[in-house]
Amino acid sequence: MNLNINGAFLALETDPERTLLSVLRNDFQLTGTKYGCGEGNCGACTVLIDGESVRACVTPVGTVAEREIVTIEGLADGDRLHPVQEAFIEHTAFQCGYCTPGFIIETAALLSRNPNPTADQTRAALSGHICRCGAYTRIIDAAESAAERTGETA
Ligand code: FES
Ligand code: FES
Repeated sequence: MNLNINGAFLALETDPERTLLSVLRNDFQLTGTKYGCGEGNCGACTVLIDGESVRACVTPVGTVAEREIVTIEGLADGDRLHPVQEAFIEHTAFQCGYCTPGFIIETAALLSRNPNPTADQTRAALSGHICRCGAYTRIIDAAESAAERTGETA
């Protein structure tokens, strides 16, 4: 199958039922996408598929062939971090950082479909993500800060 990952077209011969998470991490060493629960419940493995957030641990790789896959490694624009990444750094919105890629990708997906989310909409979008370190206050602050910036430039 042909995969489009972070703007690169990559050929892969594999079982189409394997999870996208396994392929990203084990075949392409894109380890920024994390294995948390493996059941679609924690958000650690979230990536963008055609701009929408998807949980890679429950996504068969065969279903995303030819579609645009973006992982945390592909979110920046060259040397320029994505505004959500900048906001997470400025707010130190992490402790161990394990959940961070999933939260950032989810926030980026939210802002691409709605550049001006309300605080409630931001919280709702992130509500399916788990941070085992309990850094939620800073994570929400960062996401809201990113939303304010995106809203200003939209
Ligand atoms: S590892 Fe995919 S949702 Fe938890
Ligand atoms: S910062 Fe450790 S899991 Fe969220």
